[in-house]
Amino acid sequence: MSFDAAACDLVFLVVPVWAGKPAAAFNTFLRDHDLEGKRVAYVISSMSGNADRCAADLDAKAKGARRVGMLSLVSPQKMDPEELDATLASFAREVGAA
Ligand SMILES: Cc1cc2nc3c(=O)[nH]c(=O)nc-3n(C[C@H](O)[C@H](O)[C@H](O)COP(=O)(O)O)c2cc1C
Repeated sequence: MSFDAAACDLVFLVVPVWAGKPAAAFNTFLRDHDLEGKRVAYVISSMSGNADRCAADLDAKAKGARRVGMLSLVSPQKMDPEELDATLASFAREVGAA
């Protein structure tokens, strides 16, 4: 995956929950990308809305990063697209990205 965190000071991690934790591909992403000193914001999608364990796992793996926010989305594909857009825009403003 071509992503250079060096150019970013805020990184959004948009993560589906699998078996209570981040989907497996995120282990690889976080292993291969140095987020030390970065602000990170999590957008976590699940069927259950239980995002805390997933967020704690991301905290542990995004070493040296500082979590500035978390948005938990329940089955976002079933949300009204305008409501989803507004929710994401509001979260982006909350964490200082917009
Ligand atoms: C292998 C797998 C495991 C999942 N495990 C969970 C889970 O433990 N808890 C939960 O709330 N949702 C779970 N889900 C639902 C996904 O989090 C949900 O489908 C996803 O956030 C929505 O994105 P998608 O439409 O890309 O799948 C799982 C989905 C898959 C495919």
